[in-house]
Amino acid sequence: MKRPHIPLETLQAQAEACRACPLAEGRTHVVFGTGNPQARVLIVGEAPGKNEDLQGVPFVGAAGKYLNELLAYAGLRREDVYIANVLKCRPPGNRNPMPSEIEVCTPFLREQTRTIDPAFIVTLGNFATKFILKTDRGITGLHGKLYQTGKFMVFPVFHPAAAIYDRRKRADLEDDFATLGEHLLQAGIVARTPQSVVREAEAMADAQLAANGVAVGNGPAPTEMSHGQEPSAAGAPLSESHAGEQESLQF
Ligand code: URA
Repeated sequence: MKRPHIPLETLQAQAEACRACPLAEGRTHVVFGTGNPQARVLIVGEAPGKNEDLQGVPFVGAAGKYLNELLAYAGLRREDVYIANVLKCRPPGNRNPMPSEIEVCTPFLREQTRTIDPAFIVTLGNFATKFILKTDRGITGLHGKLYQTGKFMVFPVFHPAAAIYDRRKRADLEDDFATLGEHLLQAGIVARTPQSVVREAEAMADAQLAANGVAVGNGPAPTEMSHGQEPSAAGAPLSESHAGEQESLQF
């Protein structure tokens, strides 16, 4: 029999009482997660930073402001999604999470994911991606493509904070969120994206010209291989073949 889902309030109370690792000593707040509990899209970051620790809310600092902008590329608003982190407490000086911290903290993320039951999980950066996809591959080789792990569609992207220090990552992030929007459109999770609005406007303009007897268009638009494909076997990326990774990509 399937274990019942644990309500988010219960999980949050448990996280707030947690003293399982030394990060509990230095925290101002446990940053459990926030957003729409019925979200179809779960965003998973790494760990709270200084502002998040002070406010108890994920992604409220500079990376969070940029994340809000990126969501719009996919046709999403912040209130449409749920946002959580791999670690619920801030590592001192924003150092990387330690394996022992990930091990004791991630049961919270796993239960959050079961309760929210999203269709898509967007992983921000290496730590979230490696944990969710159970892979050692880095984000540079994985970002911008769709993977299936168990029942979830997983879409890794660079961490938005990386783009604050490396502006070249901005183009990748913005392209990847636009690609995410295409997948969400196809899944019926968003009704429009900035790209689909432009496409509709172009189609209307073409129709208007055609109605006026002007020849329009350059033939059919090229089909994009990464969209419209049927999900492949669990764990296999949908837009690229990674032979031999099926086993390791299970959440
Ligand atoms: N970076 C993260 O990974 N999570 C936050 O909540 C804030 C910054």
